Amino acid sequence: MPLARYTSLRVGGPVDALALPGSTGALVELLSWAQRRQVPVLPLGSGFNLLVRDAGLRGIAIHAQSLRALELEPDGSLEAEAGVRHSSVSKLCAERGRAGLEFAVGIPGTVGGWIAMNAGTREREMKDVVVSVALWTPKGEVQELAAASLHFEYRRTHIPAGSFILGARFHTHSDAPSRVEARMQSLMEARRRTQPVDRLSCGSVFHNPPGDAAGRLIEAAGLKGERRGGAEISSVHANFIENRGQARARDVLELIELMRDTVRRRFAVELEPEVRIVGEEE
Ligand code: EPU
Repeated sequence: MPLARYTSLRVGGPVDALALPGSTGALVELLSWAQRRQVPVLPLGSGFNLLVRDAGLRGIAIHAQSLRALELEPDGSLEAEAGVRHSSVSKLCAERGRAGLEFAVGIPGTVGGWIAMNAGTREREMKDVVVSVALWTPKGEVQELAAASLHFEYRRTHIPAGSFILGARFHTHSDAPSRVEARMQSLMEARRRTQPVDRLSCGSVFHNPPGDAAGRLIEAAGLKGERRGGAEISSVHANFIENRGQARARDVLELIELMRDTVRRRFAVELEPEVRIVGEEE
């Protein structure tokens, strides 16, 4: 099963098995089964922020596309399964007048990935709005961990080893639906102006180095529009790589090396990948 059609970059070699669990219960059963048989599992989320090498990977890749339950609780918190996307969160918040999660508008991927990456913007991150996270633990238990017991960093969350994110609960507060919607619209417009949101990409390639921006450094190094095979450094935002058609992981990896090497040489800054690179080396 080639993973390319299940990743946002449309790149990636074959996996032994792909699972699309229809419910969190089915996902929990699958995780326990795989653990008993010592089969590796890879959480794909919806395949954002992920680069699967062309040689593919062993084990089971788990896609969260069917885990989309989303509910507003009586206490105003929002409970979301791992496969919920920003469009559903934004729609519900705008309709029901719930504020606090506007920053998530346009953040690609799914709730599982948002938590794993502590996704966010310059203004806010998941750590600012998460109440608790539901996890499957390697003991085969489902646990709800309070946000305070998780350790969030810039684009990284420490969850207990071997655990799998099943969903999360977010804090929201009341506001006029029109105001919530207006804030979302203006954030979405800003994102459309500055990021290649309508192109095939894996999101930001690198973390921002302290006090600077990877996009600024890569553009200053003259690399916008640079191409390898079907992959291109975005001319909209230099910290994105676009698949302009038929790109392979090898093309993308070559560009990643070019970006790192050139920025290191020109500015003595070491860029750290944000995109998760998985799969067998060729
Ligand atoms: N810049 C350039 N050239 C470019 C891109 C950016 O010179 O091609 C400059 C901009 O002019 C600006 C600075 O770099 O002065 C920062 O750019 P921008 O405001 O676009 O934000 P960013 O630092 O590149 C971060 C997050 C984004 C998030 C935006 C908006 C990271 C790696 N990126 O981008 O998050 O959407 O702020 O808040 O932290 C992500 O993490 O995947 C992501 C997309």
